[in-house]
Amino acid sequence: PVIYVVTPTHARPHQRAELTRLSQTLLLVPSLHWILVEDSTTRSQLVADLLVQSGLHYTHLNVQTPPVMKLKEGDPNWLKPRGVEQRNEALRWLRENKLSGDTGVVYFADDDNTYSVHVFEEMRYTKKVSVWPVGLVGGLRFEGPLVEKGQVVGFHTAWKTHRPFPFDMAGFAVSLSLLLSHPQVQFDPNAERGFLESSLLEHLVSVGELEPRASNCTKILVWHTRTEKPKLKQEEMLEKQGRGSDLNVLV
Ligand code: UGA
Ligand code: MN
Repeated sequence: PVIYVVTPTHARPHQRAELTRLSQTLLLVPSLHWILVEDSTTRSQLVADLLVQSGLHYTHLNVQTPPVMKLKEGDPNWLKPRGVEQRNEALRWLRENKLSGDTGVVYFADDDNTYSVHVFEEMRYTKKVSVWPVGLVGGLRFEGPLVEKGQVVGFHTAWKTHRPFPFDMAGFAVSLSLLLSHPQVQFDPNAERGFLESSLLEHLVSVGELEPRASNCTKILVWHTRTEKPKLKQEEMLEKQGRGSDLNVLV
């Protein structure tokens, strides 16, 4: 089965750094197709060039998050869900371009997390939805499913514990055939904070059907890392003096 990795991405000073790191992780994984979806009105040259040079199989898409749904400068980042329209655009593409007989698995991999190459082999043979723990998320060292006799019986979580599927986007993968057989199912842009993952999964599986991976969910193979916002104070100062860093140099 092919692993379809769906990544929403948006323009910012460290975008190329994030995408370089992620693409070079994905390069280590056989039989993988990267669906990179820009949050923008057009596909950027920066991302197009990075994809061509990556050596990966890929599809380059774009869709802009409606401005009313976007965070404003200074908003706390949890105010609005991020990457929703982009993940739904990838689902649309898969449903348009894949046949019900195609075997594959879909993983929603944000551009800033840290992925072990091993997490991909854990998900490859997903029947419906496979799950594993995610490090450094939910205010804990890790959040993840609790497994007894090979079955998910609950979840280790301390934040909004009443969520139907209380785990991060990076902690599950869905079989392509399950998504194709439920053509209406997608992420809910209006989902309450923390309920985005559940808004998709509750229409696809029950908790008892989840397929625990990573040694019965005891191994951390993905981390919800977040990158510090680069400080560009001096750049702004030099720009005002007309001496900003050479714009021909791509950062
Ligand atoms: C957490 C979860 O890990 C995300 O999967 C979830 O989408 C998000 O919360 C949420 O509540 O919406 P977090 O680290 O806070 O993630 O979010 P970001 O990493 O800032 O954004 C998630 C993805 O969306 C990234 O790939 C990012 O590049 C993309 N994004 C972000 C956009 O496409 N547009 C934006 O305006 C912001
Ligand atoms: Mn993130």
